Amino acid sequence: MKDFDAIIIGAGAAGLMCAMRAGARGKSVAVLDHAQKIGEKIRISGGGRCNFTNIFAKPENYLSQNPRFCTSALSRYTPADFIELIDKHGIAYTEKTKGQLFCEGSATQIIDMLVGECADAGVQIKSGVRVNRISRDGEGFTVITETETYTAPAVVIATGGLSIPKIGATDFAHRIASQFSLNIIEPRAGLVPLTFDNEILESMKALAGVSVDAVVRCNAAKFSEALLFTHRGLSGPAILQISSYWREGDAVTIDLAPEIDVFAALKTAKQESPKQMLQTVLGSWLPKRLAMSILAELQLDLSISQTPDAALQTLATRINAWRVTPSGSEGYRTAEVTLGGIDTRELSSKTFEAAKVPGLYFIGEAVDVTGQLGGFNFQWAWASGVAAGESL
Ligand code: FDA
Repeated sequence: MKDFDAIIIGAGAAGLMCAMRAGARGKSVAVLDHAQKIGEKIRISGGGRCNFTNIFAKPENYLSQNPRFCTSALSRYTPADFIELIDKHGIAYTEKTKGQLFCEGSATQIIDMLVGECADAGVQIKSGVRVNRISRDGEGFTVITETETYTAPAVVIATGGLSIPKIGATDFAHRIASQFSLNIIEPRAGLVPLTFDNEILESMKALAGVSVDAVVRCNAAKFSEALLFTHRGLSGPAILQISSYWREGDAVTIDLAPEIDVFAALKTAKQESPKQMLQTVLGSWLPKRLAMSILAELQLDLSISQTPDAALQTLATRINAWRVTPSGSEGYRTAEVTLGGIDTRELSSKTFEAAKVPGLYFIGEAVDVTGQLGGFNFQWAWASGVAAGESL
């Protein structure tokens, strides 16, 4: 019995890309999604404008326990390939920074493009469908939903990660992997704001809304981007980036004025304008509220000439190498991605088929390959979707 050549579970970025590729090759494909509205993460991505790729995407932009796994798929479907598709659909886009391409209009253009390509390829997309069970029967699979039973020789799990449960994220991929005895790399929230306790949090709350260009370091990773103080702790691209490398208990080191050697600059100021108050000196390098907060914390309210060099050194270290230990992260509620997932050692890097379970595929964010911030996660969704779609 065969209803479809392939059933894809999850009509997100990876699932739709996989479906349109397989459909275009003449395969009969159904895509099942439990959400009423498909592609919701695409819709909310990039502030509603979808940072759909990064022209500099390379394996080094991805975190995985098996760092070379992503190389094959990324090299076979590149940012230029996706741009070609965007161009074909006349979608206007713009490079914001660091190779990040965003739609000039709404992110829904990307969803419409994928859905349109699927329709042209004869793919059936079924939304609002709850999958109760997948079982392996002989050479194929039976997929049982609340209302129907489908069979197919191949099933692709494209249900994404755990982030933002409010818009339909579930642990479905992990449950299916466990059912078929596939290893899972422990999932954790990535690209997520970091939270703090007690006194540090109080000082951050007072700075909510202040943003600086910073260099943030943790565990050999380093990012130069904007940092934002919030009511809950620290956020902004620099913090989201470093959060993927941060583990509980680790400190992060933050340079709040990366363009300036603050100690050297303070010594120069001490010689050239000794009567200046420290807040005036700092005010030219940092947002005023931040400068005042740091000076209050270090109890420095004198002129620069009255401040001993040792105190200037402490002040400089607090600005150029601020070490803080987050108490946690905001978790899956706000995380952009889920790190970990299906162990790539279980999958073919060419086809994404599970070696132990022929016909079962995992693609996209469900797999233990996670991109940095900046369009890398969608590029992974497209590339892994294409790789599986071409081998179904
Ligand atoms: P995706 O999450 O897109 O799709 C999974 C689908 O499976 C969903 O449609 C879901 O409803 C469905 N599903 C889940 N459980 C199911 C179940 N049990 N049964 C049936 N269906 C089920 N990346 C990037 O590169 N650039 C960006 O600008 C952004 N911006 C961004 C903003 C925000 C707020 C978030 C949360 C994330 C981003 N990302 C991003 C990350 C990006 O959205 C993400 O990596 C991809 O959408 C992953 O694609 P997938 O297809 O793997 O999962």
